[in-house]
Amino acid sequence: MSEPQRICLVTGASSGIGVETARGMAARGFHVVLAGRNPERTAAAAADVRAATGNDRVEHLLADFSSLDQVRALAAAFNARHDRLHVLIHNAGLWHPRRQLSADGIEDTFAVNHLAPFLLTELLLDPLANAAPARVVVVSSRYHLKPRSLDLEDIQTVSGAYQGLAVYKQSKLCNVLYANELARRVADRGITVNSLHPGDVATGIVRDNAVLNGLIKIAQHWLLKTPTQGARTSLHVATSPDLQGVTGRYFAECKQAKQSPLASDADLAGRLWDLSERLTDL
Ligand SMILES: NC(=O)c1ccc[n+]([C@@H]2O[C@H](COP(=O)([O-])OP(=O)(O)OC[C@H]3O[C@@H](n4cnc5c(N)ncnc54)[C@H](OP(=O)(O)O)[C@@H]3O)[C@@H](O)[C@H]2O)c1
Repeated sequence: MSEPQRICLVTGASSGIGVETARGMAARGFHVVLAGRNPERTAAAAADVRAATGNDRVEHLLADFSSLDQVRALAAAFNARHDRLHVLIHNAGLWHPRRQLSADGIEDTFAVNHLAPFLLTELLLDPLANAAPARVVVVSSRYHLKPRSLDLEDIQTVSGAYQGLAVYKQSKLCNVLYANELARRVADRGITVNSLHPGDVATGIVRDNAVLNGLIKIAQHWLLKTPTQGARTSLHVATSPDLQGVTGRYFAECKQAKQSPLASDADLAGRLWDLSERLTDL
C-alpha cells in the first residue's frame, strides 16, 4: 500500500519566498495548500505551482491576516477538508511605513506577523498532532537580532513615534520567541517548531516604501537572493531528514544559527503567549 500523501500549508504563498516554498514542497510530493489574501494572485500562484511541478494536489485558501475572523475561517476551511497537517509554514509577513490598525483594531504589523500565525497554529494543533511527527516552520528574519529589549506593555506602539522598520524587527523577534515557546508546549505531541532567516531576498516586502523598493531593484542582481534561493532554508527546515526531532532552533543559510539572547528568555516568551491568547480571545 502506498504511503498517504503528506500535507503542507504555506501562508503568504501568493508571491515572493512563499510561492517558491510552495513550489518546492509540491516538487517534493507534498499535497500543498497555498494561503493568500488576494484571490487572483493566490489562485495564479497555485496554478503556477501545479503547472511547474506536475503535482495536481495543490489547492489554495484565502484569508487576510489583518482579520482574526479570517484566520479562524481559514483554519475552519482547512479542517473541513483535511484531518492531518504534516508541515505548517508561517511565511506571510509585511512591513508598514506608517502605523495602521487591523480589522480588530490591533497594530497591523504585530497582528499579521505575530498574532495571525499564533492563532492559526492553535486552531490547527489537532491536524498537526494527527500527522506527528509534524513540523511548524516560522519565517522570521535576521532583523530579530536587532531589538535590545521588547516592551510588551507597548507592543502596539501606542506611545512614541512609529518607526516601521523598528516595529517590523520587533515582530520578527516575536516570531522567534513564539517559535521557542510553542516548541516547548507541543514537544509531547510529536510536533517540532523552528524559526529561520531566509536571507536578504529581492521580493516586494518593502513595496510600500518607494526608496527601499528602489534600492532593492538596484541591488537585486548582485546583493540579494532570488525568491527561489530565499526559499531554500524554509524547505530545508520543513523537510530535511537530519532535522527529525530538532526543535526550538533558529536557522539561516540552511544551518543552525545564533538567536537573539532575548529569544531564549522563557519568561518573556510566556508573557508574549499570555498577551497573544488575550488578544486572540483564545
Ligand atoms: N525579503 C527578505 O529579504 C526577507 C528577509 C527576512 C525575512 N523575510 C520574511 O519572509 C517572509 C516572506 O516575505 P517576502 O520577502 O517573500 O515578501 P512578499 O513577496 O511581500 O511576500 C509576503 C507574503 O505575505 C502575504 N501577506 C502580506 N500581508 C498579508 C495579510 N494581511 N494577510 C495575508 N497575507 C499577507 C503577501 O500577500 P500579497 O501577495 O497579497 O501581498 C505575500 O504572499 C515574510 O515573513 C518576511 O518577513 C523576508
